[in-house]
Amino acid sequence: MKNPNAGDVNTGKDLFAKHCKSCHGKDGLGDGPKAATLGKSCGDFTAKEFQSQTDGEIFYKITTGRDKMPAFGKTISEDNERWSLVNYLRNSNKLPVRLFTRGPDLILAFTLCFLPS
Ligand code: HEC
Repeated sequence: MKNPNAGDVNTGKDLFAKHCKSCHGKDGLGDGPKAATLGKSCGDFTAKEFQSQTDGEIFYKITTGRDKMPAFGKTISEDNERWSLVNYLRNSNKLPVRLFTRGPDLILAFTLCFLPS
């Protein structure tokens, strides 16, 4: 399935805050307040494994849900709105966010590399 790129990122942001944040967390790291009660990981939207999926796969997962992940095909019935979420999840991984969330790991990696042994 191809992303029509009609979904506006800001719409995605609002929808995410309303429907997804409780489980997936405000930065999509899977650390929302409800996540701990699920007994199951929500995944990490900033992870490479997640971002390496196609837009169509992400769209499909949002539409049909799986296990503890609710299906949003009816709740968010406009295709464009669900695409806007896909666009938002992609966008939230842009460099500043990524550096912010992955920064400590990077600094640790560099320190370990250059530590005199
Ligand atoms: C009740 C908690 C809950 C809510 C609310 C929720 N999710 Fe999820 N979501 C999950 C869980 C748990 C999984 C992992 C499912 C699995 O592993 O099968 C998941 C998985 C996903 C995945 C697939 C992740 C991957 O690694 O491929 C996407 C995409 C996703 N959610 C998007 C959303 C979006 C967008 C919303 C809001 C419209 C949302 N979710 C709302 C719990 C939730």
